[in-house]
Amino acid sequence: MKKLVIKGKKKLYGSIHISGSKNATLPILASTILSEKKIIIKNFPLVKDVFTMIDLLVSIGLKVNIDKKKRILKIDNNNKKINTVATYRLLKTMRAGVLVLGPLLAKYKKAKVSLPGGCAIGTRPVDLHLFALKKLGAKIKIKNGYIHASAKNGLTGNKIRFPSISVGATENAILAAVQAKGISVLQNCAIEPEIMDLIFFLRKLGSKISFIGKRKIKIIGLFKPKTVIHKVMFDRIELGTYLIASGLIGEKINILKINPKLIKTEIQVLKKMGIRMKIGTSQITVYKSKVIKNTKIKTEPYPGFPTDLQAQIMVLMTRANGVSKIKESIFENRFMHVPELKRMGAKIEIKDNIAKVYGATKLSGAEVMATDLRASVSLVLAGLIAENRTIINRIYHLDRGYENLESKLKKCKAVIQRI
Ligand code: UD1
Repeated sequence: MKKLVIKGKKKLYGSIHISGSKNATLPILASTILSEKKIIIKNFPLVKDVFTMIDLLVSIGLKVNIDKKKRILKIDNNNKKINTVATYRLLKTMRAGVLVLGPLLAKYKKAKVSLPGGCAIGTRPVDLHLFALKKLGAKIKIKNGYIHASAKNGLTGNKIRFPSISVGATENAILAAVQAKGISVLQNCAIEPEIMDLIFFLRKLGSKISFIGKRKIKIIGLFKPKTVIHKVMFDRIELGTYLIASGLIGEKINILKINPKLIKTEIQVLKKMGIRMKIGTSQITVYKSKVIKNTKIKTEPYPGFPTDLQAQIMVLMTRANGVSKIKESIFENRFMHVPELKRMGAKIEIKDNIAKVYGATKLSGAEVMATDLRASVSLVLAGLIAENRTIINRIYHLDRGYENLESKLKKCKAVIQRI
């Protein structure tokens, strides 16, 4: 099994180009099921989860042409033999596969989609996805690990008020409502930038979606699809990760191809912690930090601080003088990186969903184990600042969501190697 070996304490300098967003690409790919017209998607990231979603689309019957070099996908759903099944084999490695449920149901009036497997960061149910689809008239049964959904006469628009905010459930509901008869009003929706990108895409495709309140979306269903070319937005979690890496051990790093307006909370938190940044319109330059200050954060739905950057900011907190606190309010079990960081010398206490980080500590290299996507990258960040060598096992988690992580860091003079 592949491992990453990092020799720590090498100062980073140079430029990093941010890739297209994984979490925007996945629902956009799922939405291509809704159209028979040609679709071109640009700037998709070369990460495992995106290829798993492509495999899923192909297993359903779509044709996907992949140009890895130019980062262009050409998708064609002009196939009479569509298979409305999404198997466990594909869903067990990537929960976002469940996003094909809404579009399959809306377009083909039936779907059999595997329940996604368990997940290291918590139980992660799909009840909110099913709640929304039922509101649109779907009949749903769970049998043998599969969601069996049908809507004999098609879906019908309705009012849906989500009891709590979910990115995936909002996306699945939008993807179903755009091809439901009549008007739907979705309330208490997630409004992550990736959902906005999905909405931009769906509007180009021909659907009628508007915001009638901060978390309230109106959809006039049944649209006629048009040919679309869409460039996926940048990956704001990848950006946040490299901002933190630069704050930890950067001399001067330019981070390019981004929109800082979409990460205002993260910028505010990092500035408060003493990270020195110059914010441009499509780039951020991070300068060597002088003193890193402790802080308190709480993970929240957008525009709050993202749970997907919680593990990474914890590494920065080990460098801050004083006690920092993180309240993880999105997932119940997302501190799996803590025991590994402690093995590297971090002083962290966990009580319920709150982590207290006592700083500043010096980390030292160790052999550690990655447990999920963001936990693995936090170990990479820890390895970059630790004394001696850090060896990270189970790095397949990293490949699910970070494009060319080693080469991007190597270009900035990090000593990192995959063995
Ligand atoms: C998406 C992101 C993931 C990010 C998460 C939260 C993608 C592909 N993944 O995941 O990177 O960490 O948002 O920002 O975009 N929940 C339920 N019932 C449901 C659905 C969710 O109880 O039916 C709960 C979850 O267990 C969790 C919370 O709602 O506690 C938020 O999860 P959700 O926003 O749905 O996350 P994902 O869409 O799975």
